[in-house]
Amino acid sequence: MKRIVITLLMMILCTLPLLSVAAEGTDSRILVAYFSATGNTKAIAQTVANELGADLYEIVPEDPYTEADLAYYTGGRCDQEQDDPSVRPGIAGGIENMDQYELVVIGHPIWHGQAPRIISTFLESYDFSGKTLVTFCTSHSSPLGSSAQNLHSLVPGTVIWLNSRRFPGDASVENVKAWVDTEIIPYVEENMKGKALTLKIDGTFVTVEWEKNDAILALSERIKDAPLTVQMSMYGGFEQVGSLGTSLPREDQETTTSAGDIVLYAGNQIVVFYGSNSWAYTRLGHITDKTPAEMRELLGKHDVTVTLSFD
Ligand SMILES: Cc1cc2nc3c(=O)[nH]c(=O)nc-3n(C[C@H](O)[C@H](O)[C@H](O)COP(=O)(O)O)c2cc1C
Repeated sequence: MKRIVITLLMMILCTLPLLSVAAEGTDSRILVAYFSATGNTKAIAQTVANELGADLYEIVPEDPYTEADLAYYTGGRCDQEQDDPSVRPGIAGGIENMDQYELVVIGHPIWHGQAPRIISTFLESYDFSGKTLVTFCTSHSSPLGSSAQNLHSLVPGTVIWLNSRRFPGDASVENVKAWVDTEIIPYVEENMKGKALTLKIDGTFVTVEWEKNDAILALSERIKDAPLTVQMSMYGGFEQVGSLGTSLPREDQETTTSAGDIVLYAGNQIVVFYGSNSWAYTRLGHITDKTPAEMRELLGKHDVTVTLSFD
């Protein structure tokens, strides 16, 4: 009996990575998602993810491809799927935190000159509006051809597409790195670097270590196009509080705060502390560049204005 329970537990644990890439603590805004039937694309995807410091997600078919399925020009499963652009093979599991990613790199093999239909399933499974996508593929000898372009109509028109790249199945690590370094990293540096949630108190930036939780993700999403200014009021001799004008996901926990703590109160108010209080809050972050005395000086004299922005 004990052995059966342990075996079942092992099976569940082995399945977990396939279900989600919402890895604890990761805050990368880049995802490398790949499908690979025989391992060539997988190896390249791993190099790309390492080079970019990106999260890695394997697109795993619900119904795995057997050797017989993969034997092409036999009229088998792959041949049939590639013959019919409307086929959408199911994907096992999914990505819970797609909102987190701004750039998604998608890797796949070439099957009969095109991306496998499971890539269509993947592209239609998420809302990629406003995100940047780039595909790479591996093939025995076929060029990129129309394979990348044919994927564009599967996502909203607001997607920014970077140039795709074809690699031979046995591409060297150096070649892959060279592509990432010349085609992707310059884009990341120009468009994504330095973008962070910032907080100003009465026009002065303070350094904040933000929590990695759903409230912060939602707040970042809310202010990514326009800063949010909150009129705060002194309260209780220990805090400044103001309405965000929007509700954020709550994970309230009984908390004793200290000077510099930033929390969410009642789901829609931001509180910055210059003293201490005990209540059920959702932690948002902590101001790290001010001493308790400096926090009291900054917040304990008059009402302030707080500006949250993403830049
Ligand atoms: C069903 C099927 C169709 C394929 N069609 C092509 C093709 O049209 N052109 C080509 O050069 N290679 C073709 N290949 C070879 C693969 O693209 C190549 O081996 C690729 O690197 C495999 O990637 P993977 O190991 O990540 O699955 C095909 C392979 C399979 C299984």
